[in-house]
Amino acid sequence: MLKHSSNTWDGAVVYQIYPRSFEDSDGDGIGDLAGIESRLDHLVDLGVDAIWLSPIYPSPLADMGYDVADHCAVAPELGDLDGFDRLVASAHDRGLRLLLDFVPSHTSIEHRWFREHPEYYVWADEPPNNWVAAFGGPAWSRDERTGRYYLHSFYPEQPDLDWRVPEVRDAMGDVLRFWVDRGVDGFRVDALQQLMKDADLRDDPMATTPFVLPLGDEYGRLEHVHSEAGPEIRIALEAIREAAPDAFLVGEVYRPTRDLGPYLEHLDAAFAFELLHAPFEAGRLAEVITDGAAHGGQIAWALSNHDFPRLATRFGEGSAALAAELLMTLPGPVFLYQGDEIGMLDGGEAQPPFDRAGRDAHRHPMQCEPGPLGGFTTGEPWLDLTDPDLRSVSAQRGAEGSLLELYRVLIARRRELSGPVEADADGATLRLRRGQHTVSLGLPPATPG
Ligand code: NOJ
Repeated sequence: MLKHSSNTWDGAVVYQIYPRSFEDSDGDGIGDLAGIESRLDHLVDLGVDAIWLSPIYPSPLADMGYDVADHCAVAPELGDLDGFDRLVASAHDRGLRLLLDFVPSHTSIEHRWFREHPEYYVWADEPPNNWVAAFGGPAWSRDERTGRYYLHSFYPEQPDLDWRVPEVRDAMGDVLRFWVDRGVDGFRVDALQQLMKDADLRDDPMATTPFVLPLGDEYGRLEHVHSEAGPEIRIALEAIREAAPDAFLVGEVYRPTRDLGPYLEHLDAAFAFELLHAPFEAGRLAEVITDGAAHGGQIAWALSNHDFPRLATRFGEGSAALAAELLMTLPGPVFLYQGDEIGMLDGGEAQPPFDRAGRDAHRHPMQCEPGPLGGFTTGEPWLDLTDPDLRSVSAQRGAEGSLLELYRVLIARRRELSGPVEADADGATLRLRRGQHTVSLGLPPATPG
């Protein structure tokens, strides 16, 4: 099937919500769907077009929701399906579209399929190869009940589904249809590079050069030519597109931008992770933007998300405004992670950490108001607030020179931009051209090392 050719997402600004950390409506310290609904007007003021919700499904939280135990329900601490329907209706009433996170490559080990349909997963009597899990350790774990080994590309609590099995494709197609029928406009599709691996499960060779994107130490030692990104990805993508023909599909494919072609034959867009990881240097930024532009408007641009250091932490607080202008000049869709519009910084890690891979720091609650609880909750927040007295939506709203006001202006200006982007660097100045419009960003000089 041909890719969906909707251009209504071209130029769109999608705001990523990490549901546990956006707004708590019932005082249990955990953000929830009713909380999101209560803050939609902030997003309308900001001018965004759509929201993407990181996973909202029941989960034992080994990977903070990316270990899905039931794809067609809402985690009780976040709400229920009626609440979800209300959120969709409220978003649509305000002209906001809604994307869910679709996690096709694995389930939670507590998903009923793991016991009822073991044939949906990848099994071996002994670990058949040297594959490593993304967060470290072997990619094969022993199931105590059967004594056999199952494959997991991420945590051991996340067994991989086998997309070569037609029943897996059908079952996941049902999941997509379930949410489309409830009014969802599209999906951010998780970890697509993991859907198709080598059919013969051959060893990965040792890496001879570093991968273009950051990887965990152990994972980075191998070159993932067999454990990822198999050529038969088409089979999986066709099934996904067929189940959601009119939905906007944006892929998380953690691979070099130049390799996104086969994915983009079926998806509307895919993230260019080289931009998300680029240093704040004009030359490198121009290069990665040019590489993305080669995909003709199908790149989704983001400068941060729930997995990596926050924008203002990574580039420095003094560069947050320049980064905003950079992002909002790129052709759409662009993705803005909650809190970046007020310059939120990384927080600390919980003790013991919620995320064993060290990502608590990027997931601290949204700061809508000043005060110790940041307007996030009336209870005990699941992760501390970072610095609500220093930065919050209400303190920045209408305040001349605030980052929030700058984002509002840039998002509004974005409506006047059209066409592809051309990027080049002149010393420390990054120049972006969209048709008649040129933006010159004087970046701080690169710091050595
Ligand atoms: C990418 C998600 O963004 C990340 O949070 C998760 O740990 C992995 N995929 C596995 O689902």
